[in-house]
Amino acid sequence: MAQYDVIVIGAGPGGYVAAIRCAQLGLKTACVEGRDTLGGTCLNVGCIPSKALLHASHQLHEAEHNFAAMGLKGKAPSVDWKQMLSYKDDVIGQNTKGIEFLFKKNKIDWLKGWGSIPEAGKVKVADDIHEAKNIIIASGSEAASVPGAEVEIDERIVVTSTGALDLPKIPKKMIVIGAGVIGLEMGSVYARLGTEVEVIEYLDAITPGMDAEVQRSLQKLLAKQGLKFTLGAAVSKVETGRNKAAVTYTLRKDDTEHTAEADVVLVATGRKPFVDGLGLDALGIEMTKRGQIATDAQWRTNLPGIYAIGDVIEGPMLAHKAEDEGMACAEVIAGKHGHVNYGVIPGVIYTWPEVASIGATEQQLKEEGRSYKAGKFSFMGNARAKAVFAGEGFVKLLVDKETDRVLGCHIIGPSAGDLIHEICVAMEFGASAEDVALTCHAHPTFSEAVREAALACGDGAIHA
Ligand code: NAI
Repeated sequence: MAQYDVIVIGAGPGGYVAAIRCAQLGLKTACVEGRDTLGGTCLNVGCIPSKALLHASHQLHEAEHNFAAMGLKGKAPSVDWKQMLSYKDDVIGQNTKGIEFLFKKNKIDWLKGWGSIPEAGKVKVADDIHEAKNIIIASGSEAASVPGAEVEIDERIVVTSTGALDLPKIPKKMIVIGAGVIGLEMGSVYARLGTEVEVIEYLDAITPGMDAEVQRSLQKLLAKQGLKFTLGAAVSKVETGRNKAAVTYTLRKDDTEHTAEADVVLVATGRKPFVDGLGLDALGIEMTKRGQIATDAQWRTNLPGIYAIGDVIEGPMLAHKAEDEGMACAEVIAGKHGHVNYGVIPGVIYTWPEVASIGATEQQLKEEGRSYKAGKFSFMGNARAKAVFAGEGFVKLLVDKETDRVLGCHIIGPSAGDLIHEICVAMEFGASAEDVALTCHAHPTFSEAVREAALACGDGAIHA
């Protein structure tokens, strides 16, 4: 029986980062993972493979739509789907092997198998029991089904994001249930590859929780790329046939029932914590009403020596949120001061253009009765964006009217997911729009649009 200072259960972005930080802080650490490769959902069947397919399909879109204008003539490339999937698998392999290397480098034991916690201080993997002074549960999440609907996932015709990343062929028609992050990213991939994509969404807007102006712009831009949106529609049933599935939904505005057919139906209606087989019930771990593991502000569960981080606890189900919690939790265990600033966790959607957001939306500020100013700048005024056919979209910076302190930022445009971090740092430092506006930004870069939005909060943007 091996003895550890810390055993982390799950090697996704939360778990593997926690394990590395624990080891760096001098704690003898092991990480339990039942998949054949490290990296969890994100590296194996989530963030990373979807980015590979988004990249490849974007190249095709560029070739079809923008090459000729740049003087690049000739036939647009055709799609070798098998090769595209193997490129995607290669990207996964490079990244998962990278984590394996980091585990070896940091002398972290990978306990292969699915773990459970028979009692505090003990982790069971296969027939072995390992002792640990501290246990971090980082077991992640799994796809949730469609609330209130009869749907059977077979990962062939009716798929989650996992199946959508590995379809045997490019479907002619795909119905996506849910206009959230997964639905729009995967819907974009297939629309670019020539699939007819229909997105059916319960709410009257796409990307719930995002800034309303961004929601409208993104919907318009995606519609131009061929995605069809059926909003305000509650899916009640998905019936699978031999090679097709039929989706039944009710339009909320007039209560009429409709049916649409497709070769593939992607269910993207959210995810739920994955805690199967951990033995939490028997252990007496306290859960929230939403099925998450309840923790205090330092990721302690109700049982001493057992912590939980990432998608199994409250908060946005984002890899980077889990990573931050992993590092901070390791620091708490090592007797240091671990902290996560939940007010500054960016959200990014990797469509084209990208969407990124941090802090309060304009709607939230209005609801709270805050006095604020909005500085907006269109990428049409950004020379670099125009040079690369990316003039659509904008940066919107929201600041306190009296103090000029940055409260939020919403970007739709090229590299939005990278640009947002300037504002994340500004918010961490409690900066004002003037601080951002007075910072020299290299020309010509997309980042000038962020500075212009900051200038728009003061005496005005230059290129507007
Ligand atoms: P989501 O919560 O983002 O969106 C689900 C959508 O489904 C919502 O708009 C909801 O209104 C809709 N919906 C629910 N029930 C419905 C029904 N019966 N009929 C029609 N529409 C219905 O969930 P999603 O996209 O599945 O993503 C899951 C998690 O994974 C999220 O927490 C997300 O943040 C995370 N993720 C993050 C990514 C990123 O950061 N780029 C990429 C992929 C996933």
